[in-house]
Amino acid sequence: MRIFKPYQAFISTTAVNYVGLSEMQYVVRQFTPEDLDAVVKINRACLPENYPPEFFLDHYYDNSQLFWVAEVAGKIVGYIMCRLEYGLSSFERAFTRRVHVISIAVLPPFRRQGIATALMEKVLYRSSETGASEIYLEVRVSNTPAISLYRKLGFTAVKVIKSYYLDGEDAYLMARKLPYP
Ligand code: ACO
Ligand code: ZN
Repeated sequence: MRIFKPYQAFISTTAVNYVGLSEMQYVVRQFTPEDLDAVVKINRACLPENYPPEFFLDHYYDNSQLFWVAEVAGKIVGYIMCRLEYGLSSFERAFTRRVHVISIAVLPPFRRQGIATALMEKVLYRSSETGASEIYLEVRVSNTPAISLYRKLGFTAVKVIKSYYLDGEDAYLMARKLPYP
């Protein structure tokens, strides 16, 4: 007869002590309304730009394929929320279908494990499937971690938007062409 206990104990140890382990397991899946509280909390904990719950739900109703969460051991640790728009291209004088990344965040203990990259890649692939020709976002000029993430994924800063944020800080408008990769 085989005894499973030690093996189960091993699994539960790795599942609980995930922080800092290179084999940290996370799942990226589409947002559902049950995730709303967790996502609102992560947004408030990680960013000064906060929105009412209805704002998140509106994005779920209108752009569910562009709203994703990352989960570690059943807990939501990050999200990305976007919308499809029709507007002026960042690269040429033309109107275009483009995806706007509204907000992305990962809880501090779970950063530098590739989770934001995985969330962004989901959106990049899904955006490509929608036929959008580009994707863009605004980011604080001081937000080096986020700017590095976007550069790695092929975004470039196309302009500076002066005093974009409520506290007066400037934003980079960063964009990349689709499809991805
Ligand atoms: N310093 C420098 N580069 C960084 C850092 C950092 N602290 N964090 C991430 N990066 C860059 C690196 O190039 C990194 O690759 P590497 O780890 O191989 O060197 C790359 O980004 C990918 O990192 P991930 O592990 O995928 O990113 P992470 O899961 O840590 O999340 C994020 C990055 C979302 C920016 C996180 O730091 C965060 O939640 N910050 C607070 C919220 C925020 O600023 N969100 C973006 C605002 S703009 C907007 O929402 C449109
Ligand atoms: Zn924006």
